[in-house]
Amino acid sequence: MSFKADPSLKPFEKHIYLSSPTMHGEEAEYMMEAYNTNWMSTVGKNINEIEARIASLAGVRYAVALSCGTAALHLATRLAGERLYGQARPNAGTLAGKTVFASDVTFDASINPIAYEDGNAVFIDTEYDTWNMDPAALEKAFELYPDTKLVVVAHLYGTPGKMDEIRKICDAHGALIVEDAAESFGAKYLSDGVWKETGALGDYNCISFNGNKIITGSSGGMFLTDSKEDADKVKKWSTQSREDAPWYQHEEIGFNYRMSNVIAGVVRGQLPYLDTHIAQKKAIYERYKEGFKDLPVKMNPYDETKSVPNFWLSCMIIDPEAMCPQVRDDSKALYTPESGKSCPTEILQTLSAYNAEGRPIWKPMHLQPIYRAHPFVTTNGNGRARSNAYIQETGMRDVGADIFSRGLCLPSDNKMTPEQQDVIIELIKDCFK
Ligand SMILES: Cc1ncc(COP(=O)(O)O)c(C=O)c1O
Repeated sequence: MSFKADPSLKPFEKHIYLSSPTMHGEEAEYMMEAYNTNWMSTVGKNINEIEARIASLAGVRYAVALSCGTAALHLATRLAGERLYGQARPNAGTLAGKTVFASDVTFDASINPIAYEDGNAVFIDTEYDTWNMDPAALEKAFELYPDTKLVVVAHLYGTPGKMDEIRKICDAHGALIVEDAAESFGAKYLSDGVWKETGALGDYNCISFNGNKIITGSSGGMFLTDSKEDADKVKKWSTQSREDAPWYQHEEIGFNYRMSNVIAGVVRGQLPYLDTHIAQKKAIYERYKEGFKDLPVKMNPYDETKSVPNFWLSCMIIDPEAMCPQVRDDSKALYTPESGKSCPTEILQTLSAYNAEGRPIWKPMHLQPIYRAHPFVTTNGNGRARSNAYIQETGMRDVGADIFSRGLCLPSDNKMTPEQQDVIIELIKDCFK
């Protein structure tokens, strides 16, 4: 027996979310401004305002507002593909037949654009210090696939990855970086001695205003760049690639990816609260850390000297020796309770029974059925097909699978009260009894 219910703890009356939108009032005013001035379109003051303010906040020259972070990532990946390999036919991707290195533990929207553009994603294993792309594994990947010229890097849960190391390796191999800062808007990174915002660290940069993000537009995303030419191209591609002609004239394939001025009103209203949201999320992280100090677990780590996360999601990872047996197939999970031990499945089921939402760590891309046939590279080289029925394997290493197995995302909603969070901490402690 592991979880021993404390009879004084009752399920939450109101659901505690993982991370839900937090509105402040101004959002509705700017939406109504769009309505009252009839700019109910993909042009208008809200769009102009947020593009100018976010470019300035992120420390880049240009920002292009788009319908979602996925659209930003698609056009960023396409821009990189076109720069590297030239313009593609309308019915072909710019990365046809080309290898692209990508973060492995991330949401699939980071890396699906590689497939949209007909490229072949090669997944790069994760490091334990920040749970992001491992520069040592990236270096190995360049040994295995030396012709690769593009790397897609995400900052997981708002924690900046090791960008200086990754940039150095990419520069040495003449490779470009698409930076996915969808989860890390507002997080900072000390790059070569200068503090910079995530979303300004790649050659092509993207953020998201999805409903669960640090600030939201209900949906939406942005492409960030210092290049006027790239900003202009993204604006053109995102509005069906119209040419300068009196009629609808097209020389390249287009997309309908521009942000609505109504959505931009929500983002505009949220922007002044970015720092408040980050401070609230940080307080949640610190409270968990303190609450778990006697448990065999750790919080999702970050480099305190080189980064300031936005603490979007608080996560924990259970020490290996404190894990009870747990198995997962493609859609279900089972565990065997053991005294003094627990596992993500037990904790997530317990939270759910008490009306609170946690979530497994994002399942690594190399383990996803859709990408199982794609290469996966670890610090030991090829990460596929390493076991041998006849020989004891020594070099097996899969950090992403390990974090997925032992880790979980905790309820991180900034409307959760300290008292509610204390109940969640108690429930998790009870799992280890
Ligand atoms: C890492 C990451 N990349 C990309 C996206 C896609 O952003 P959007 O939902 O705005 O398309 C998300 C989240 O939604 C994400 O978490």
